[in-house]
Amino acid sequence: MKMNIAVLPGDGIGPEIIKEALDVTLAVCAKFGHEITYEYALCGATAIDKVGNPYPDETHELCLKSDAVLFGAVGDLRFDNNPSAKVRPEQGLLAMRKKLGLYANIRPVATFESLIHKSPLRAELVRGADFMCIRELTGGLYFGRPQGRSEDGNTAYDTCVYSREEVERIVTLAYEYAMKRRKKLTIVDKANVLATSRLWREVAKEIEPNYPEVETEYMFVDNAAMRLIQWPTSFDVMVTENMFGDILTDEASVITGSMGLLPSASIGTYTSVFEPIHGSWPQAAGQNIANPLATILSAAMMFDYAFGLKKEAELIREAVDASMNTNVRTQDIQVEGVEPYSTSAVGSWIVEYIKKA
Ligand code: IPM
Ligand code: MN
Repeated sequence: MKMNIAVLPGDGIGPEIIKEALDVTLAVCAKFGHEITYEYALCGATAIDKVGNPYPDETHELCLKSDAVLFGAVGDLRFDNNPSAKVRPEQGLLAMRKKLGLYANIRPVATFESLIHKSPLRAELVRGADFMCIRELTGGLYFGRPQGRSEDGNTAYDTCVYSREEVERIVTLAYEYAMKRRKKLTIVDKANVLATSRLWREVAKEIEPNYPEVETEYMFVDNAAMRLIQWPTSFDVMVTENMFGDILTDEASVITGSMGLLPSASIGTYTSVFEPIHGSWPQAAGQNIANPLATILSAAMMFDYAFGLKKEAELIREAVDASMNTNVRTQDIQVEGVEPYSTSAVGSWIVEYIKKA
């Protein structure tokens, strides 16, 4: 197969983790005889510094004409500590999501047996947890207008907006994923308070009869936050709006023992984007200590979701499992008494594993 990839390393640890994911991608392509070409583009703070725009037009053009986008992370302390900055790195990510029509963010959460000791939850609670969060990504509070400040600066407002079409497409997509999994769907909202949530629930109830095989559960977001830590194995597919999904997936990610392990796929109208769910960890930039696994696993999702190449994806997952089982781990997940590996050492180990497989 011919594959044409846009590579957007972004900020902080982005370039380091992307390098490893790209090396793994190239190794898989070499092994399976796929022809891959790739091109780098700017985004985030790096792009603001170079061209004054966190998602430059050239980057967008490249994404549009590519078959998939491999994305690192954006965010920089200079902006985090400056609430009045006019342009922010995160705006680049949001612009990319909007312009590529990436309305669905898919975040699979699975526990790794060899990491259970790192989970903040007791092993018996978290063992076997295996679910998929589907987060709506181009609507809600992130994009609703008006957003801003009153003239005197003493009042601020964000607007949460959802249309019937936006809810329909994401809930339908969630049902389709539930059909391919254990056929249980949890629809998370705050319908007891929010009008947008009531629309979500109304639309979901209209779609529900089309999927009689799926067990549907409606849950308020506060309850879902609690259930995630009390009974994570009770979830199969969960679907929710943008902001709730942002919060719940961070919570979900630590249940598995490390945020450094969770990949994601953002899919929609144009090219799909594959990125780790964690941020740019600027404090660790350039130190070669960040965990590259979430990005490497995002590359696995890319083979699977963007190209339908399941064996390739499976080999990456197998290599990641093998690295953890042999304690080739970065410091965030290393077992006590074993020297942690660097970002590049973990990546190289996985590349070697793939070559030999
Ligand atoms: C994420 C991130 C982003 C979000 C930030 C960086 C804008 O936290 O992908 O979850 O809030 O969506
Ligand atoms: Mn987030």
